Amino acid sequence: MNTSFNFLEKSLELYRYPKRITHPSWQAWDAADELLLDHIQQSQENIKQTRIVILNDDFGALSCWLNEAKVHHVSDSLVSQLACKQNIELNNLDKARITYIDSLAPIPQAPDWVVIKIPKTLALLEHQLIQLQTVVSQNTKIVAGAKAKMIQKSTLALFEKYLGKTYTSLAKKKARLIFCEPDLAIQQKPSPYPSVWKMQQEPFTISNHANVFARQQIDIGARLLIDNLPDCTAKTVVDLGCGNGVLGLCILKRYADAQVIFMDESYMAVASAKLNVQNNLPKEMHRALFIVSNCMEELENNPQVDKVICNPPFHQLNTITDHIANQMFEDARSALKKGGELRIIGNRHLEYPQKLKRLFGGYNVISSDKKFSILSSLK
Ligand SMILES: C[S@@+](CC[C@H](N)C(=O)[O-])C[C@H]1O[C@@H](n2cnc3c(N)ncnc32)[C@H](O)[C@@H]1O
Repeated sequence: MNTSFNFLEKSLELYRYPKRITHPSWQAWDAADELLLDHIQQSQENIKQTRIVILNDDFGALSCWLNEAKVHHVSDSLVSQLACKQNIELNNLDKARITYIDSLAPIPQAPDWVVIKIPKTLALLEHQLIQLQTVVSQNTKIVAGAKAKMIQKSTLALFEKYLGKTYTSLAKKKARLIFCEPDLAIQQKPSPYPSVWKMQQEPFTISNHANVFARQQIDIGARLLIDNLPDCTAKTVVDLGCGNGVLGLCILKRYADAQVIFMDESYMAVASAKLNVQNNLPKEMHRALFIVSNCMEELENNPQVDKVICNPPFHQLNTITDHIANQMFEDARSALKKGGELRIIGNRHLEYPQKLKRLFGGYNVISSDKKFSILSSLK
């Protein structure tokens, strides 16, 4: 795996997070990062005096390279923040020059530059452009970058709708830039997020911040798992990778004495789960805990959990991967009490049974259909 980012006059060592995650084709930067940096370098004389807001800097390549500036790193992903912190430290850069801002917190006013890596979810981009409407000044330079295939007419239309005149560069190494001139005369529009849908299995109205999985309807896997939840009477349960929290919400409703810990690496996911308990089961808030965490890293290392329920992710950004599911299963095993249970749902083509067998010594198939299996392992 190439970890040496030698670009223009600077050399950095960059890793994804956690650092041990390696794969021959997994770099911590891409051609869009290079185009963005090249553009900023050419257009900005004294970078040291510059205030730059960087949105969705995947593993910190932009923030590290621009460390001489005053950088605001805005992201919905704790893993992105952790990757950036790790890379700042590895390269002995100045951590005092970076401020980390999560996707629901306010962005500072009138930055010199707004630099956007176009996110996978267009709704997240829309949320961010709406935030930027109230932040940019006439003098703010706005540039965005992505793989060329991710830049569609709908992407450019969002920039035009919320910020101003927008045009693109030619593609280079299959990446492209978007330039946008802020037009302060554009009327500010309200945000459509969080959006809501109604659940069929339970009488819940589910609110979803812009970057949440299953934002428009319940996931088929989640629906099946809800029909096959374990007995959680008087148990401490972790809804791991909780998204909008539908699994944990059902447990809180069905088991009046269960405690549920909702965990996700997305700030918007954890905020949505909290909103959903507050709105649907307000009297049960005292039985719920909400933690932004990479897998279960934020839980103390003493086994205290009775059940872990999980519909694992199999993507990181645009890459298909099983490394997150692996870490989730390992963390679950560490956090479970003896006799505690990990219950998961997975697409049948994924190698979850092998992983559970290796970690727990075995598993039971609770239910399965043509596409999915629900598996349970005991510690
Ligand atoms: C398949 S979705 C399941 C969401 C929800 N439980 C459901 O069933 O609708 C997987 C979730 O895992 C979260 N996730 C991805 N990587 C993670 C990580 N490293 N640590 C914690 N959560 C993660 C995603 O943000 C997403 O909400």
